[in-house]
Amino acid sequence: MHSQLSNVRVGVLGATGTVGQRFICLLSRHPYFVIHALGASARSAGKPYAAAVSWKQPEPIPQAAADLVIRPCEPEHFKDCAIVFSGLDADVAGDIEAAFRTADLAVFSNARSYRRDPHVPLVVPLVNPKHFDIIPQQRALHTPPLSKGFIVTNANCSTTAIVVPLAALEHAFGPLESVLVTTMQAVSGAGYPGLSALDVLDNVVPYIPGEEEKMEWETLKILGGLSDPDSDGLISFDMHSSAPLRVSAACNRVPVLDGHTASLSIRFARRPPPSPQQVRDALSAYTPAVQTACCPSAPPHAITVFEQPDRPQPRLDRNLHAGAGVCVGRVRQCGVLDVKLVVLAHNVNIGAATSSIMNAEMAIVRGFVQV
Ligand SMILES: NC(=O)c1ccc[n+]([C@@H]2O[C@H](COP(=O)([O-])OP(=O)(O)OC[C@H]3O[C@@H](n4cnc5c(N)ncnc54)[C@H](OP(=O)(O)O)[C@@H]3O)[C@@H](O)[C@H]2O)c1
Repeated sequence: MHSQLSNVRVGVLGATGTVGQRFICLLSRHPYFVIHALGASARSAGKPYAAAVSWKQPEPIPQAAADLVIRPCEPEHFKDCAIVFSGLDADVAGDIEAAFRTADLAVFSNARSYRRDPHVPLVVPLVNPKHFDIIPQQRALHTPPLSKGFIVTNANCSTTAIVVPLAALEHAFGPLESVLVTTMQAVSGAGYPGLSALDVLDNVVPYIPGEEEKMEWETLKILGGLSDPDSDGLISFDMHSSAPLRVSAACNRVPVLDGHTASLSIRFARRPPPSPQQVRDALSAYTPAVQTACCPSAPPHAITVFEQPDRPQPRLDRNLHAGAGVCVGRVRQCGVLDVKLVVLAHNVNIGAATSSIMNAEMAIVRGFVQV
C-alpha cells in the first residue's frame, strides 16, 4: 500500500524537544510523510527551527526542518496537516492536544495526558493496534461529534519496552499471572535538560516520579482487550480483567544516554510453565500485525533474542533496526517465579517517536486517517 502514498503532510508539536528532534530525524527520511508544520512554545515560535532548537542529535539538522519557522501550537496553524505528532511537555499537552482534536485533526501523542482516558487508545504498535477500534466511539462522543479528529497515545517509554515481550509470551502461552520488573532508565527519558550531571553521573537514582504507577497501569490497558458493546452500544478497555495480571515495577535512573534496560521475572498462569528455550523461541517468532501491514517503520524483527550471556547492552544494541524493535537476552529459569529475562528498548525511538510514526502508518492502513 505505501508505494501508492506520497506527500502526506504532517505537523510536529514540541518539535524542539528530545522526542520532537527524533521526530524530525525520522520524518525527514520517511517514504511518504512530509514535514509541513512545526510547533513549540512562545519562546520558540516565530524563529526558524535551526535558530530555536538546542540540537542534540548525532546528525545535522535535516534540511526539511532547518528553515521552517516555528508556529504557535494552535490548530489553525496546522489545519493543512493530515496528521499531527505531539512531543509536547506533559504539563501543556492536555489542553493543546484537546484543541487540535476539536479542530478535527488526528493527533498521535507521546504525553501522559490522555493515556487513562476511557475512549483514547494507548497503543504500542508492536502490540495492540487493535485498540484503534475505539476511535469511532471517541469521535462520536466528542462534543461536537468529529469526522476526522481523534487522539491516540503511545505508552510511557519503559512500559513500551516490557509490553512487547509480554505480549509475545501471552500470544504463545496464554495469560501471564505476575510480572516483577526493575528498570535501569536512560537520562534522555527525562527530556532536555533533564537531570543535572551532578545528580546522575557516578550514580543511580532509585526514584522516577510517577513511573512505577504508569508501568503497572499502562501494561494492563495495553495487554487487555476491548469489551463487547454494553447496553448503550459502548465498548471499553477490559484492563486484562479476564485473567488478572499483577505487575510490580521498581524504576531507577542510571547514567546511560539512550536506551532503557529492564530486568523481569514472570509467572505464567499455565502449569507447567514454558521452558526458557520455549520462551526464547516464542519471542523470536513473534510477528505483530505492523510487520505484515506495509508499515515502513516496522522493524524486520519485533524482538531480537540474544544468546550471549552479557547482552543486550544499551551502548551496543539500542540502535539495532534503527531502535524500532526490542532486544531480549538472559532468558533463564527464575527460582521464585517461572522465567527471568532482560529487555532493552530505545526510549526515544520505539519508546516514543518511532511508536507514534508506526501508529500513524497503521492508522492509515486501517482507514482511520484518510490521505
Ligand atoms: N524523552 C523520552 O524518552 C520520552 C519517551 C516517551 C514519552 N515522552 C513524553 O514525550 C513528551 C516530550 O518529552 P521530551 O523528553 O521531548 O520533553 P522536552 O525535551 O522537555 O521537550 C518539550 C517540548 O514541549 C515544548 N513546550 C514546552 N512548553 C510549551 C508550551 N507552553 N507550549 C507549546 N510547547 C511547549 C518545548 O518547546 P520549547 O523548546 O519552545 O520550550 C519542547 O519542544 C513528554 O510528554 C514526555 O513525557 C518522552
